[in-house]
Amino acid sequence: MIFLELVQKRVSVRDYITHPIEDEKINQIMEMGRLAPSAHNYQPWRFVVITSEKGRDSIFRCYPRDWIKPVPLFILVCGNRDESWKRKSDDKDHLDIDLGIVIEQLCLAATDLDLGSCIICNFDTDLCRTLFNMPENIEPEAILSIGYPADPDVFIKTQKKRKGISEIVLRESF
Ligand SMILES: Cc1cc2nc3c(=O)[nH]c(=O)nc-3n(C[C@H](O)[C@H](O)[C@H](O)COP(=O)(O)O)c2cc1C
Repeated sequence: MIFLELVQKRVSVRDYITHPIEDEKINQIMEMGRLAPSAHNYQPWRFVVITSEKGRDSIFRCYPRDWIKPVPLFILVCGNRDESWKRKSDDKDHLDIDLGIVIEQLCLAATDLDLGSCIICNFDTDLCRTLFNMPENIEPEAILSIGYPADPDVFIKTQKKRKGISEIVLRESF
């Protein structure tokens, strides 16, 4: 699928069937994440692939919403502040930018395989740290839900709600 079509196709899916995701597809998605760019190429990320009942239950405890109950695959995207690039001029930590890029790359990879995905950040990060044995320097950034959508037409049916180009794009300066 060409990139423009893929970006148009990706939507947040919040209605899934329980059908497990094939290992080959999980590997393809993770490979697309592995190839993501990062500041200084430091790749300050770790991914926890969660398919077990115990792991999925732990995710539900961190983000208790009924719609995630059937989700067969979660990717817990974590950052390592010890590995991220800090800009010398102002010490800005680029971890969040790196993770934002890899997260969208994973979602696009899932979409390309006709899998639904949703980025979840509104979860209990302290509980997540505990349940997934995270070391001190690792922080949970996002949970990605991935699965076959209950409605395979969700990709074409869902309208994108976005600001208009003239509201967000400026030419040459503010
Ligand atoms: C950083 C980030 C955090 C998000 N957190 C959540 C979340 O906790 N729960 C949720 O249902 N959707 C979450 N979303 C999905 C957004 O609501 C969704 O991307 C946005 O409404 C645009 O819709 P679309 O993804 O269908 O294009 C998040 C998206 C981003 C980028």
